[in-house]
Amino acid sequence: MPNTSGFVAFNQNTIHSSLTTRAFGRKLYILPEVTSTNTHALTLADPLSAHGSVVLAEQQTAGRGRLDRTWFSPPAMNLYASVVLVPTPSFQRMSWIPLIAGLSLTEAIHQTCGLHATLKWPNDVLLHDQKLGGILCEGTSQGPHYQLVAVGIGLNVNMSETDFPDDLRFHSTSLRIHTLTAINRNTLLAHVLNAFETWYTQLTEERLDPIHSAYIAQCETLGRELLVHLSNGEEFFATGQAIGEDGSLHVCLKNAPGAPIRSIHSGDVTHMKIMHS
Ligand code: BTN
Repeated sequence: MPNTSGFVAFNQNTIHSSLTTRAFGRKLYILPEVTSTNTHALTLADPLSAHGSVVLAEQQTAGRGRLDRTWFSPPAMNLYASVVLVPTPSFQRMSWIPLIAGLSLTEAIHQTCGLHATLKWPNDVLLHDQKLGGILCEGTSQGPHYQLVAVGIGLNVNMSETDFPDDLRFHSTSLRIHTLTAINRNTLLAHVLNAFETWYTQLTEERLDPIHSAYIAQCETLGRELLVHLSNGEEFFATGQAIGEDGSLHVCLKNAPGAPIRSIHSGDVTHMKIMHS
């Protein structure tokens, strides 16, 4: 049924009818409005039964992005979802979670509307160098282990250019801007969850090679000239070289003697513009 914006509203039955998962999305909390789906997801009481639950909202009043940014979350047109994971205490691959979530988004986008979105390390989803979506992973811990992880997914789906505020319009885009037709967010979400559960299962089974290859194939950061921003405030120019076994980005420093390689574990990168002659 269409919502007030004329787009099909989130619907549990429609989502379930396209799911092929065992756990992801089987328990769905669909909220008309929430501060942040991640905040809500982390309050889910019982870690024993929360694995795979999804908190989904039509609107966020305090949506959050990485690096303390806000996430613009207008009503009824986009995807704001948090997938709850309850990793086993022995799980060692936490740094790959946001990467496989981004990978799942690109696959679901292709399956749903045929567009080839790409990834900017670690987990920005891009379309023609504009930002389409992002992932924010947050967790609660018990001793040295994660107890709950909320994998927050934000994707601009049915926004038109005029729906973006001035400060976002130039660097952001949505699926509908490219397809020129409304996207069914229920089917899209189901495809995201199907892909995400498959990659997560492979990760828990330590089958890293296919994950690594699939991520590299979608990652535009490799081979690109970058401005690297580390969380300690340090910035430098470099070229993206490789993705490490731990999901880190290996870069080759620019203008440095011997062009040393550095591994980036956290922080952000800016893709420098490709100059066409
Ligand atoms: C980023 O690119 O900075 C990450 C954006 C993540 C946004 C999503 S929307 C659903 C979830 N809830 C939030 O408050 N943030 C994430």
